Amino acid sequence: MSLKVTVVAPSNIAFIKYWGIKDHERIVPYNPSLSMTLSRCATRTTATRLEAADADQVLVRQPGGEMEAAAGPFRAGVVNHLDRLRVWAGVECGFRIATENSFPTGTGIASSASGFAALALAVIGALGREVTREDASRLARLSGSGSAARSVLGGYVEWPAGGDQPDAARQVLPPEHWDLRDVIAVIDTSAKEVSSREGHRRAVSSPYFAARQELLADRLRSVRQALRDRDFAALSRIVEEEAIDLHLIAMSSRPPIFYWQAGTLTVLARVREWRDAGLEVCATMDAGANVHLICTAAAEPGVVAAVEDIPVVRSVIRDAVGDGPRSVDDHLF
Ligand code: DP6
Repeated sequence: MSLKVTVVAPSNIAFIKYWGIKDHERIVPYNPSLSMTLSRCATRTTATRLEAADADQVLVRQPGGEMEAAAGPFRAGVVNHLDRLRVWAGVECGFRIATENSFPTGTGIASSASGFAALALAVIGALGREVTREDASRLARLSGSGSAARSVLGGYVEWPAGGDQPDAARQVLPPEHWDLRDVIAVIDTSAKEVSSREGHRRAVSSPYFAARQELLADRLRSVRQALRDRDFAALSRIVEEEAIDLHLIAMSSRPPIFYWQAGTLTVLARVREWRDAGLEVCATMDAGANVHLICTAAAEPGVVAAVEDIPVVRSVIRDAVGDGPRSVDDHLF
């Protein structure tokens, strides 16, 4: 009887953004990144090894739906990652995989970060292997989703740029150090027109790419310090500056990429008003139109009430810093 392992891995939101790949084969980023691991936005994945050299079976369930055979690019992405994990493990067997997200896919929440972290950890477990978190981070990254490298750890996590060698992510501070919240204002639920992968590829064509790289070492130091000191004013300055710079690079890439929508700017303007009125809140966006409102636990009820009042906001997801992945017993098959 083959081992069956189920892992729940969370998504993460970057304060310092990974944007630009130096080596597409080994997923080596141009710059270090730093994120907060979430707790509620997560992927649950069950894996088991098949008996012979069977074809992979990949099942997926959308929230509220039935478990179905995965198809198209989703299945291809999973099988591609399984291929890399097979090479790493030196095995040729197929796998049966079932997966579901706690949040709707295509909402601009990084489902690939949680998805590939959960897949890597479940397969490692199903093979009966034990690895360090550093190795798990390297294996998650090989999926092609660099941000998955950070989702294997809890709390506040840094993924170094690593020179010419791919590096593993490491925890900078544990989740209990600072209970920050992420109130996600969902503005657009459609899949993004330009993938992150393509965005990374185009980033270097921006005339401002090199300028951003020069700012990042200082910015990273300042974010680490602000987190250590629990200094929300310092953190919010850098987080917003950095989010705007990511989109500045995207918009000035050749050809340009516009992830923002009118609703994004509406929410950003309101965030400035709330902060001026004394709420500890700041905004960041990944490669999408949705706005992550990072705030203190004390500010969260006020932020939720205020954001629910904005007509362009379709829904609100409440999340918080979390512990990272865990193995669970409620398997998906
Ligand atoms: C803007 O290549 O990890 O979110 O696979 O789509 O999750 P996905 O993207 P990935 O790039 C993430 C880019 C980013 C910034 C970040 O998370 O650091």
